[in-house]
Amino acid sequence: MRFSASFSVLFAFVSYAAAQSAEWGQCGGIGWTGATTCVSGTVCTELNSYYSQCLPGTATTAPSGGSSTTSAASAPSSTATVGLAVAAKAAGKTYFGSATDNPELTDTAYVTILNQTSEFMQLTPGNSMKWDATEPEQGVFDFSGGDQVVNLAKANGQLVRGHNCVWYNQLPSWVSGGSFTAAELTSIVQTHCSTIVSHWAGDIYSWDVINEPFNDDGTWRSDVFYNTLGTDYVPLALQAARAADPNAKLYINDYNIEGSGAKATAMLNLIKSLQSQGVPIDGVGFQCHFIVGELPSTLQTNIEAFTALGIELAITELDIRMTLPATDALLEQQKQDYQTVIGACNAVEGCIGVTIWDYTDKYSWVPSTFSGQGAACPWDENFVRKPAYDGIVAGFQS
Ligand code: XIL
Repeated sequence: MRFSASFSVLFAFVSYAAAQSAEWGQCGGIGWTGATTCVSGTVCTELNSYYSQCLPGTATTAPSGGSSTTSAASAPSSTATVGLAVAAKAAGKTYFGSATDNPELTDTAYVTILNQTSEFMQLTPGNSMKWDATEPEQGVFDFSGGDQVVNLAKANGQLVRGHNCVWYNQLPSWVSGGSFTAAELTSIVQTHCSTIVSHWAGDIYSWDVINEPFNDDGTWRSDVFYNTLGTDYVPLALQAARAADPNAKLYINDYNIEGSGAKATAMLNLIKSLQSQGVPIDGVGFQCHFIVGELPSTLQTNIEAFTALGIELAITELDIRMTLPATDALLEQQKQDYQTVIGACNAVEGCIGVTIWDYTDKYSWVPSTFSGQGAACPWDENFVRKPAYDGIVAGFQS
């Protein structure tokens, strides 16, 4: 009796819940078995063949973003039938993931896709674990932004890459403008790394302990760390991170090391030197902020050169930008380029995962950083999958 009563309550709830989707809820798409009608004041709008969503408006009124939705329908789009993380897993990779940032997490349509583990098995906070966010004043720590991303990832069952402990950029002025003795800065670096790494200990798959240590010619970047401590800041930070979370994989991350050349050689030599000194180093991050049609031709051989050192390698910040406006030809080349990058990772066992530097053009860092450029991500600004999406899937299937 008791069972059947609760069962009918449950049944009533389920059938009610399945009747209509809420505003911003999913209302259709391949594989979708839930409600296909929307609550009043919203209209079920096909964003792509996998995802229809209840957007504000009525059937006779264009939904918000309606004009671009219309134009997107005629633009080349994606037809792949498998999620990006599903494709990565099938290829034997540990994850496929995306960067995200705290302000974006109020955008329900954005979060709905970010939460899909068929697409993303891993998140990287784009800003909220950086030094200016986590220790804005000496000894005053703020974990709130990082916690929000970590808690979202935990709720979804997604891995997290910590980004980052030591970087010349986005430093609070008390660090960048300080004039410290070597002993003082040693203690500051140790305290910072050990405090943030231990705060998230157990929740982080890998940490970018050191970010962007080199100039493009392979010389050391001149910053407060190098200028005060020489190269010693690198082992210092790695050892502090290891002590704070023995299970996190410790990485050094950089750009323009993806193809062979002076900067890649400097990074290879740094890793060899750390290994010979017994300093903990588990991985190298290739950022991969690329330009359509301009990939380094030595990407795969260079991935092989790094993984031959016995470390793992991750593609940590992939995006492939173009000069705007996006044309069909550029979008097609972008698809090929995404496929080439993913294919290079796919071909080398030690390349363990790929993170895109946000999944949608709506929140890409590119337009505000590289004037006149954009459209770098696999989803457009209206959350419609681009041909680039299919390039990623094809890369994992190559
Ligand atoms: C970028 C963020 O995406 C932006 O929001 C921020 O304004 C600047 O930093 N290499 C890195 C990342 O290691 O931390 C950078 O992220 C992009 C380049």
